[in-house]
Amino acid sequence: MSGFALILPAAGSGRRLGNVVPKPYIRLEGRTILEVTLGRFKETGRLEQVVIPTSGAYMDEASDAASRLFGAETGVKVSVIEGGAERQDSIANALAHVDDRIGWICIHDAVRPFVKPSTILSVLERAEATHAAILAVPAKDTIKQALCENNRIWTRFTPDRSTLWQAQTPQIFASDLIRRAYREAAREGFIGTDDASLVERLGHDVDLVEGGRENFKITYPVDLQLAELLLRKESDPPQVQVSPAPAGKAATSSNQAPAPQNADASHP
Ligand code: C5P
Repeated sequence: MSGFALILPAAGSGRRLGNVVPKPYIRLEGRTILEVTLGRFKETGRLEQVVIPTSGAYMDEASDAASRLFGAETGVKVSVIEGGAERQDSIANALAHVDDRIGWICIHDAVRPFVKPSTILSVLERAEATHAAILAVPAKDTIKQALCENNRIWTRFTPDRSTLWQAQTPQIFASDLIRRAYREAAREGFIGTDDASLVERLGHDVDLVEGGRENFKITYPVDLQLAELLLRKESDPPQVQVSPAPAGKAATSSNQAPAPQNADASHP
């Protein structure tokens, strides 16, 4: 399996969270969300370069976090650059900093800190086969197409839920393909809500790899509370309590603490 470059967009303002500190820089259990996310990618052992687009005020903080994780001995090149007004602008700026010799580019929201390293590698493997693959989950709610006029919101169309998947990140592409998709989008003035939509516009298929619900994007205050809870659980796993076995009897499996539950429930 090949190595890859990671673009980790972290230039959002966090308006929906109502926080003064932008989401990637909020500390949970002693680490910023950005650091936790970077750590998952380090664990893949495939990373060759990291480019972090962020706001000017947080460039030093992002550099410090990245250099703590990727010292010279790791051989991973780190660039922290200025993001743009929209997420798509931040990625476009970052693409210009990715080393041309790296064949695969992975884009992952800095605010999805619970992505599993093994899942990142599954997406990379699909991308190597088809040039474009993303993590996604089947829609669990019924989705309505909304119309809006004069303060009234209504619907007249419900797409078939069995065909709907919610896109997540990582989204991984062959370097030439994602660069071409971004060039075309800029030429046509198209703004998408994810990177795959730019590739789809070229008429290229994008493979979906089924992910888990734990890979949620920290967006609202309730997400932050959940993230804190999950990180606490990671740093302080439940203790295994083994009660003394009755004389002559080995401890049975009922004495063991239950296996940690995965927050994932891939299907509704
Ligand atoms: O705003 P949204 O939740 O879609 O942001 C997803 C990711 O994109 C976040 O990590 C955010 O920091 C980043 N972003 C960015 N540049 C922007 C807007 C968002 O890098 N202009």
